[in-house]
Amino acid sequence: MRKKVIAGNWKMNMLPNEAIEFITELTPKVKDTKNEVILCVPYTDLFYSLLAVQETNIHIGAQNVFYKESGAYTGEVSPKMLKCINTEYVIIGHSERRQYFAETDETVNLKLKASLNEGLKPIVCVGETLEQREANETEKVITSQVEKALANLTDEEVKNTIIAYEPIWAIGTGKTATSEDANNSIKQIRNKIKELYGEAVSEEVIILYGGSVKPENAKELFSMSDIDGGLVGGASLKVDSFEKIVNFDKE
Ligand code: 13P
Repeated sequence: MRKKVIAGNWKMNMLPNEAIEFITELTPKVKDTKNEVILCVPYTDLFYSLLAVQETNIHIGAQNVFYKESGAYTGEVSPKMLKCINTEYVIIGHSERRQYFAETDETVNLKLKASLNEGLKPIVCVGETLEQREANETEKVITSQVEKALANLTDEEVKNTIIAYEPIWAIGTGKTATSEDANNSIKQIRNKIKELYGEAVSEEVIILYGGSVKPENAKELFSMSDIDGGLVGGASLKVDSFEKIVNFDKE
């Protein structure tokens, strides 16, 4: 049985004092969940958030990383730098980074390898645009992104990688993929991993859905056979909505 994972992606929101307040308020509300609770915070919140989650079941991630270990790369942060302050997770290849910051499948692969080498737990994002969806290219696009992201990884490394399927047209738009559609795309990703790494690996890989996840649709989405949880943007910025998503399986 794969564990359910609920990861918030705060994007470029929340100052350190807001992060601490959020975590303090969230802690008692999620302390009994068996789901993995992750908050991916801006770099400037990392240190404060890591202190605030001590003795809790909340895990902290970054939203990006560079693939070099050190050197003249002004403005970049290495996997070692994230790891040395105990950052646990890192998002790689979010569509906003692909769109605005020239992230490619190749840099995603380099960042993924470098992060795994450092013992970080990566969350790799893939997803199609509306144009690609309307041209019936979804499967081709997302399986190719997955294949390129995972290139030259060992079975063990693939098992340690979380994948987030985030259709770009569903991000921040209020439009959610239907649970059947999302499950179908995630199945296609799992089948690709099976083809590349075998069934045992593909059955272990955690694959999340992202794109307008809200308290109202979380239960339906996360109850589907292949959807192992969510990567949540807007609804992760309020304790009330994020807590409801984390506790989607509680009555
Ligand atoms: P929204 O939940 O705001 O649509 O964002 C999804 C996302 O991009 C998470 O990484």
